[in-house]
Amino acid sequence: MNKPEIICAAPEDELFACAAPSSYNVEQYRADFPALNQQIHGHPLVYLDTGASAQKPRMVIDAMTRFLENDYANIHRGVHELSQRATDKYEAVRTTVRRFINAEYDDEIVFTHGATEAINLVAQTWGRKNLKAGDEILITALEHHANIVPWQMLRDQIGIELKIIPVTQQGEVLLENVRKAITPRTKLMAFAHVSNVLGTILPVREMVEMAHRADALALIDGCQAASHMPVDVRDINADFYVFAGHKVYGPTGIGEIYGKREVLANMPPYQGGGDMIASVTFAETTYKEPPHRFEAGTPPITEVIGLGAAIEYISTIGMARIARHEDDILAYATEKLSRINSLRIIGVAKQKSGIISFVMEHAHPHDIGTILDRHGVAVRAGHHCAQPLMEHLGIGSTARASFGLYTNRADIDALVSSIEKVREIFG
Ligand code: ALA
Repeated sequence: MNKPEIICAAPEDELFACAAPSSYNVEQYRADFPALNQQIHGHPLVYLDTGASAQKPRMVIDAMTRFLENDYANIHRGVHELSQRATDKYEAVRTTVRRFINAEYDDEIVFTHGATEAINLVAQTWGRKNLKAGDEILITALEHHANIVPWQMLRDQIGIELKIIPVTQQGEVLLENVRKAITPRTKLMAFAHVSNVLGTILPVREMVEMAHRADALALIDGCQAASHMPVDVRDINADFYVFAGHKVYGPTGIGEIYGKREVLANMPPYQGGGDMIASVTFAETTYKEPPHRFEAGTPPITEVIGLGAAIEYISTIGMARIARHEDDILAYATEKLSRINSLRIIGVAKQKSGIISFVMEHAHPHDIGTILDRHGVAVRAGHHCAQPLMEHLGIGSTARASFGLYTNRADIDALVSSIEKVREIFG
């Protein structure tokens, strides 16, 4: 395994805050990802679908294997050595996640099975407890279905209203439109940190501040941000911040909710079962304090270990360095794709991260995706789980190239030359 270059000489507990500028050796990091080293249809794999799911570094694969081989047992339940070891390792990852996003307390980190479950949890616990018919939730027009459907379900259950902040044709969320959408009935604003379709970075700090000025809470879907840039939940001041493990180079089946301590403390449990109770009789049950109150049943233990390894891996490289590298790749790709006449980039916000969606004259995005795949280039094609955004922008679907810490300029050159093949076929 290639160990990531250690670029930070700070004491270990300061590692997460540290991202010293130094050269970024993308080839060294690529070698950490076994899946990148393969041929697809006779071509070297060019993986440009990190927005859907990131490839896994050897360090994560090894950490999960080592845990399964040596330390695996159920947690919080056994007095035996293995159970205690597994419990300690699981709980240590809570600290790792807390430091990664600069939360204040470990108990502000709740493990879920993914970001989708995280948002559903907030809707069904905080939402049901705190909202009543006529209250309003604001989301933006660029949200992923995971940040739309849970609120629609809540709307249909308790009669709240769901209001939409528009997105410009450039793909931006303007603060004046946020301001106009807020009313005295607004109780929650839920929005992406980065759009999974357009790559737009939203002005999250300002949006949170606006929500708070209206006495509303703010939930941020950080799925497309957490692996691409430093995230500081105390600086953003969000009440909830969710992300998925598989997008930060960890395994599937694990996500997290950061929730402010005082907010989580007033939320009822989501699911009932083992490990979330203080005591049970047939007459009544009392619950543990957060975060365990929200982690009913046997959790995804091995996946939590994998998440911890993934966060250590990217934190050692340095999130600020990853962000700078991906900005360089984004600028390079934008420049190259802009030169192709029949291609139009969808989403040209001033602040963007790691994603380029595009359409081409005469070629459907699914055809683009299929032809690119024949040349070893993996992109996503379709509505990207954001059908309302597509409708808002008046397009059916896009092809999407999304970047990661391992994306290099050769990947972009391969994308451009395979797009030329699409042009040869479709004109
Ligand atoms: N949310 C993931 C994507 O944007 C699946 O592709």
